[in-house]
Amino acid sequence: MACVPMPTDLQALAALLSSAGFIAAEEEAAELLDSAAGDAVRLDSLVSRRLTGEPLAWIIGRVSFCGLEIRVDPGVYVPRWQSEPLARRAVERLPDTGAAIDVCTGTGAIAKTVATGRPGARVVASDVDERAVACAAANGVEVYRGDLFAPLPRALEGHIDVVVGVVPYVPTPALPLLQRDTFAFESPLSYDGGRDGTDILRRVLRDSPRFLRRGGGLLLELGGQQADALGDDLAALGYVDVSVLRDEDGDVRGIEASLGEPR
Ligand SMILES: C[S@@+](CC[C@H](N)C(=O)[O-])C[C@H]1O[C@@H](n2cnc3c(N)ncnc32)[C@H](O)[C@@H]1O
Repeated sequence: MACVPMPTDLQALAALLSSAGFIAAEEEAAELLDSAAGDAVRLDSLVSRRLTGEPLAWIIGRVSFCGLEIRVDPGVYVPRWQSEPLARRAVERLPDTGAAIDVCTGTGAIAKTVATGRPGARVVASDVDERAVACAAANGVEVYRGDLFAPLPRALEGHIDVVVGVVPYVPTPALPLLQRDTFAFESPLSYDGGRDGTDILRRVLRDSPRFLRRGGGLLLELGGQQADALGDDLAALGYVDVSVLRDEDGDVRGIEASLGEPR
């Protein structure tokens, strides 16, 4: 059977992607053509990968986040635009020469956004996945490999103005409901938050007070009923001024809290 050549003009490639079910077909076609830079063999390889459902960001090696170009290596969680307001809020809360921690940093997109917004501040990050750590470092982030706060410099304890994180928060029973391609390519390590999705969120709540200064802010992405589920923990751990962050549709997207005075 004759091999059908890959279309090399925008409209034809967009039509191919659209017929394969890609919603943002024209934008994706433009990105793939740009990445191929006129090399038809390379274009064929890039488009073939995309047609398997591999994330576009892994194929072209980058994504835009808060107006910044973020390098994305294959295997590393692709930062979502839905997390941008949390990153921007972290910038707002961070004093010019303050210090912030981004836990579970992935590519380092949030840490990089915060560091760019507050160039005089120190921003550190952590992740357990070595591919994520390498990617965040390539994005210019001061990143440490290990579990949550464990690998971070002890000297920062009690001096942090903002802890921010998009940690895994999908309930384990809901993992099979994620997008079809998610686990064909991405790791459950990025998503699995335990039985009700709050296992890692609760650990961050518990460990943040060791690093936060009094009055410092905690910003965490979460969803559904998780803000309510964490209410007792937040109160018991001495957090005050707790607010639920919602998107323009009114859906719960995160929580913000401050560390109160010791009781
Ligand atoms: C949902 S992704 C978010 C990445 C990044 N914050 C973002 O928004 O693009 C969660 C990240 O947490 C990391 N991770 C999972 N468990 C962890 C743990 N116990 N300590 C540190 N990082 C962890 C994963 O490797 C993954 O990179």
